[in-house]
Amino acid sequence: MPRILTAEQVAELLGMRPTTIRLWCSQNRFPGAFKIGREWRIPYESLPQEIRKYADEAAAPEAQVVAEAHIPAAFPIAPESGRRRRVTAVACQKGGVGKTTTAVNLAAAGSILGQRTLVIDLDHQCHATVAFGLDLEEVAESNRTIDRVLRDDNFPIARAVWPAWQSADVVPATVELAVVETELLTRMMGPVELKRKLDEYEGEQQWIFVDCPPSLGMLTLNALAVADEILVPVEPTFLATHGVTRLLATVNMLCKRLRTPPPVVRTVLTRFDQRTREANRILEELREALGHRVTDQIIHVNVTLSQAQAAGKPIFDYDPNCRGAEEYMALARELLSDGIPQEEG
Ligand SMILES: Nc1ncnc2c1ncn2[C@@H]1O[C@H](COP(=O)(O)OP(=O)(O)O)[C@@H](O)[C@H]1O
Ligand SMILES: [Mg+2]
Repeated sequence: MPRILTAEQVAELLGMRPTTIRLWCSQNRFPGAFKIGREWRIPYESLPQEIRKYADEAAAPEAQVVAEAHIPAAFPIAPESGRRRRVTAVACQKGGVGKTTTAVNLAAAGSILGQRTLVIDLDHQCHATVAFGLDLEEVAESNRTIDRVLRDDNFPIARAVWPAWQSADVVPATVELAVVETELLTRMMGPVELKRKLDEYEGEQQWIFVDCPPSLGMLTLNALAVADEILVPVEPTFLATHGVTRLLATVNMLCKRLRTPPPVVRTVLTRFDQRTREANRILEELREALGHRVTDQIIHVNVTLSQAQAAGKPIFDYDPNCRGAEEYMALARELLSDGIPQEEG
């Protein structure tokens, strides 16, 4: 990031009009902003912390760099297996927005609705593994993990599938996944390693969720490359729309490189607090910017959801009557009623 920004640069960063930024400058909302001639200059340090954090992330184009360096123009893609199943990547580069909660509880809801489901834990923090009540030590000792699947050519996904809850299964992760991510960077097939393994997988599951890490690095690229559908949980905060736009740009870039049709991208508003006017404004803004891609079902703030996660149980096991359970069930129904997503024009 440059140390001094123009009003245009700040406007671009925030997805706003430069005139608004100039107005804010004259209202002294960026302490330290000064004028050279008629143009405002805004010191980076005078931006609010949340914006600075976002700007720093935006300045590090991880996925773009990774993909461009690692995906040759004509990339050999393994043929699709004949089996038609739905693969939903739950992705967002921001942490703590509800990705894991969404993946785990949708898989559990799907299982109640008669689907065989599978969650692939693609985050070295292993939250999905823990949310299903698996013991991390036992998982690490068994070595039947996604880390091994991605690293060992002769180790198929089928051997890393653990029963989780009812007819939901999980492919667990360990902290070692962080190392695997850097190994994948040096491999020619790095970004499509998961796709290769999933194409070979003959499992029964009809609905597969990939729980992504909070970044746009190599593991998230692997998830995007296998997905028919990307579900982006967003919190109703100031920069929500901007984050989704950036993720969409990465998805489009990846699909061009892989020469695959773009998956359907849907956002779901999570941790929504109806009482705040800000949340309602952001919901409107998201619907306006992304239209039908925003799910009708919203997930409200519900502490029972975090208690269930901490207890290692899906919400339908922990408290099937709470609001979070009702809302995730409704979201699962909404997604299922759409059938397997088809590419959009
Ligand atoms: N709707 C919700 N209401 C309250 N707490 C939630 C909700 N969704 C998620 N949480 C909690 O917020 C934290 C982050 O959620 P998580 O799903 O782990 O996010 P991510 O996977 O995006 O990092 C967890 O402690 C989780 O239990
Ligand atoms: Mg998570």
